[in-house]
Amino acid sequence: MTDLDAQARAILRGNDKGGYTLPTHGLYPYQWNWDSVFAAWGFATFDNSRAWDELDTLMASQWDTGMVPHIIFHQPDPGYFPGPDVWGTGQSPATSGISQPPVAATLARLIWDMDPQAGRDRIAVLYPKFVAWHRWWHKVRCTHGPVAIIHPWESGRDNCPDWDIGMAGVDGTRVGPYTRRDTGHVNPDMRPTKEDYDRYITMVEYGRSVDWDQDRIVADGPFLMADPGITFILLRAHDDLAAIGRALGHDVSEIEGWAGALRAALPALWNDKLGAYDAKDLRTDRFAGILGSGAFLAYLADAENPALDTQLMRVWNAVTYGIPSADPESVSFNPRKYWRGPTWPVVNALLALGFKGSGRTDLAERLRSETETLIRQHGFYEYFDPLDATPCGGADFSWTAAIWLTWARHHPDTALKGAA
Ligand code: GLC
Repeated sequence: MTDLDAQARAILRGNDKGGYTLPTHGLYPYQWNWDSVFAAWGFATFDNSRAWDELDTLMASQWDTGMVPHIIFHQPDPGYFPGPDVWGTGQSPATSGISQPPVAATLARLIWDMDPQAGRDRIAVLYPKFVAWHRWWHKVRCTHGPVAIIHPWESGRDNCPDWDIGMAGVDGTRVGPYTRRDTGHVNPDMRPTKEDYDRYITMVEYGRSVDWDQDRIVADGPFLMADPGITFILLRAHDDLAAIGRALGHDVSEIEGWAGALRAALPALWNDKLGAYDAKDLRTDRFAGILGSGAFLAYLADAENPALDTQLMRVWNAVTYGIPSADPESVSFNPRKYWRGPTWPVVNALLALGFKGSGRTDLAERLRSETETLIRQHGFYEYFDPLDATPCGGADFSWTAAIWLTWARHHPDTALKGAA
């Protein structure tokens, strides 16, 4: 074990609140959905049982509808806004009213592969909960074909340029008074703007005003966009969930049906003019017209093509470290502003899983080695400037530590054990 391995483990242990892991202290003082699943993957490298505990805690907050919320507010913390009162979902423990990228089935499958015997009983308990969550995505959020999101935060890529076109349609001028907390923890230049925040909170206030009736929000809410990122993540996760189900002896035809329907919807996300998959505003039926890392998650779902290969190499070769979250050759690119350009180790790991699955081990290894360099040089930051490697956002981040332990530190022959 190297010093960095020890540091990564110490970060996960240090952010462990007993059954769930904070993304980082201060900036994010609760349990976040996909952060938690990545933390579980990291724990699985040295404490398999703790990994399953993390997934159990996450799924324990599943709503009766099947949705798994994006934040679980286990203990009140005045350092975060918007907190439980703003969301007002009436859940116990309190939660937000939106979901986040469903990476759980995919990573649970990898965790199971790491210790098949110990994991069998644990995954058997989780399986029906994952099925209910995927059914919710299919029934509630795939009514337009690809996955629709009702709030940019649901995508996990909060302020990426993909959402600008939908955000422009949200009137944030009548939002109630509020005080942000995020800009007290990290450099405000690296965070979303005030105009963005007014709109984010307006969307939350709308959800609360209709008691988080998801069908109503999809029909009438202020924001509805098709997200290539979640679409590809869900498609991959459907396949992984079906594989888990088969291994447990279940009939998985319902899951296969969802996967077939979602794959058939992919052409709706292909923007010929852009030459890539693109986000789409479902209120106006207009494409965002911007290339982001969500489109490249196509590799994860076996949905890549030669045109996308060309775009990937153009975007990647325009920077030095990792795959940027937004196109470096577009006007909206900002190498330090959150999802508007920086590279995120956690997304790089998902992309590499996709490259590896489609036989592109050369690309997977290049991405691993660039991500390794960032972490070796600067530590376990939330994200990095892809041009000069400047570390950005919060330090001692759980998912960056997890990505180190599971993927970034490894050499190609041992990387991504269990990946298809
Ligand atoms: C930000 C990120 C989101 C993440 C959360 C906690 O909101 O955009 O992806 O889950 O922080 O780390």
